[in-house]
Amino acid sequence: MAARSIITIDGAAGTGKSSVAQLLAKNIGAGCLDSGAMYRAVAVLAKDFDIDPKDGPALAAKVNGVGISFNWENDPPTVMLGGRDVSARIRELDISGIVSSVAKQPEVRAVLMDQQRIIAFTHPLLVTEGRDQGSVVFPEAVVRFFLEADLEERTKRRTKQLQEAGKDVHPDVVAEDIKNRDHIDTTRSDGPLICPEGAVVINTSHQSLEEVVCEMERIVHDALKLK
Ligand code: DC
Repeated sequence: MAARSIITIDGAAGTGKSSVAQLLAKNIGAGCLDSGAMYRAVAVLAKDFDIDPKDGPALAAKVNGVGISFNWENDPPTVMLGGRDVSARIRELDISGIVSSVAKQPEVRAVLMDQQRIIAFTHPLLVTEGRDQGSVVFPEAVVRFFLEADLEERTKRRTKQLQEAGKDVHPDVVAEDIKNRDHIDTTRSDGPLICPEGAVVINTSHQSLEEVVCEMERIVHDALKLK
């Protein structure tokens, strides 16, 4: 295997990226980067320091000052802001409410892209998931996946996830939130959600997590053999 291999998984909210990325990484002995967690950590900074979620330069400066990192000893890796573990905080509803605005800011995207590339250098084999990992951040990735799923299925998954986390949500509200996030993610000018060139497209609507990961593992093994 080459010294450094990157596998990217892009897709919209609720397509199963996080679960798929974690299981695939575990099965092939790779590190797993949740790039969305970094955008969520920036949203926590906006709340903590009372920064406007649309003020890209101020947010980027704060990221550089405080520092976002992962503790790779944990599975999944915990997200740190300075020395503070914010893994639970980043999933709270007030953070989900502003993270799309934060992720729209070019200054924030630039600073996080640099950090994602640095993280990749520290892992010989890395699975990274997000919206722009294969299209913008790692176009040289050995395999680029793009996950899709029907809105109905994505709504079911997100609702279940939130209910398991103790949140009382109606599926209609979740569906609206997904549509709204899709709109913001696909129409922003910087790093919009698109299917990367040459990506392997997988529709996860009617497949189990294990089935999807099994197919991906086969593709990754073939690609790494050829490298
Ligand atoms: O996957 P998630 O819901 O945790 O992502 C949080 C937000 O960050 C979401 O609004 C999309 C955005 N994001 C992004 O713009 N680029 C990425 N690579 C990952 C996430």
